[in-house]
Order: sequence, then C-alpha cells, then structure tokens
Amino acid sequence: MQLFLDTTDVAVLKDLAATGLVDGVTTNPTLIAKSGRPMLQVIAEICAAIEGPVSAEVAAMDTAGMLDEGRRLAAIAPNVVVKVPLTRDGLIATREFAHEGIATNVTLCFSAAQALLAAKAGASYISPFIGRLDDVGADGMDLIVEIRAIYDNYGFDTEILAASIRSPAHVTTAALAGANCATIPPDVFNALFKHPLTERGLDQFMADWAKTGQSIL
Ligand code: G3P
Repeated sequence: MQLFLDTTDVAVLKDLAATGLVDGVTTNPTLIAKSGRPMLQVIAEICAAIEGPVSAEVAAMDTAGMLDEGRRLAAIAPNVVVKVPLTRDGLIATREFAHEGIATNVTLCFSAAQALLAAKAGASYISPFIGRLDDVGADGMDLIVEIRAIYDNYGFDTEILAASIRSPAHVTTAALAGANCATIPPDVFNALFKHPLTERGLDQFMADWAKTGQSIL
C-alpha cells in the first residue's frame, strides 16, 4: 500500500519523508488556502521535497479551464498529478489528460458509479472520501470494497486512493479492503507508529536492561 501525506506543510512533509515511509502527497484547495501561500510555489516545493506523486487540484469548473490549469500544474514538475473533481466536465478533462500522458487524481468520489466512470475516463487515481461519508452516517469503507470489486471485475488499472482519512483504523481497514493508496493527514500518520502496549513494553525492556549494567558497544 502506498502512503501519501495529505498536507501543504513542507516542513512537516520533510520531517515525515525522512522516515522513508511517505510515497507521495495530496493537496486540495482548502489545504492550499490554509497554507496562506501561493499555490504554484507550494506545489513546486513539495515536488522538490519528495520523488513520489504530488496531487495538485485545478480550480476551474469547466473542461477547457481544467485543461489549461492542469497543463500548467503538470509543467511544474514531472511528479505532479493533476487533481480534478468528479464531475462531467472533470471526467471529460480526465480523458484528454490521459491522451496527453498527464496523470490524474479524480477527487470527491462518493459512489461506486462515480468511480466506474472515472476508471473508464482513464483516471490514474480515484479518491473516495471515507471520512466525509462516515460524517453523514454512511460507511465510507463500503465504498472502497465496492470500487475494489468493480475495478477487479473489469481489470481497470485506476489506483484506489483512500482519502478523507480520520484515524489509523481508516488506514488499516482501507488496506484490508484493497485500496492501493491512502492519503493521510500528518497527525494520523504519526499516530500509525504508536500503540500503548509498545510504549509500555519498551519501558519495561529498558528498565530491565538498565539492571544488567551491560553495554552493547
Ligand atoms: O484531500 C482530500 C481529502 O483527503 C480531504 O479530506 O478530511 O477534508 O475530508 P477531508
């Protein structure tokens, strides 16, 4: 499973990328707005900080505008993935980007039917939003299971990028459901390392080791 960071914070990205466990980055207009910085500059810095795919989202709502903006974003760096919304115009743009060899991440996916269309349009990635479905009383993980089954039935190579991740459990259940990737907020990514029994066990090991008075070096 590829693990992406859902962030525009370059310092946080560099810190976690140093673990060697971060495979890419996703951004969206809300994260860009929160950064308070120029989008093109932020994307360029992120692309320089990590070799993996970096999703940068268009702001246009019409196909022509998406194509113009997406080509501009793709020109920033080879690892840019153009993010487009799952709309009729977005999928028409996705098909054109596929013909031009520009990787795409189709976002704001909330149904298996939408995911089917995105795969037919040649999307590189599909971003089903687990957390936002949970927020409205649905089971976001069911969507991952459905998309996985449909894509496997027909051999679609669009990668399932589990998004709107709210907890480590979302990451593990998405992995169990067969998602190719998960895009994870930094605080959730840091939580993946931790378990109280690990900390308790390590404290005990260190206390017992100290009693030996030994040194390994
Ligand atoms: O960036 C796409 C997705 O991860 C957004 O998540 O928490 O705003 O629903 P969230």
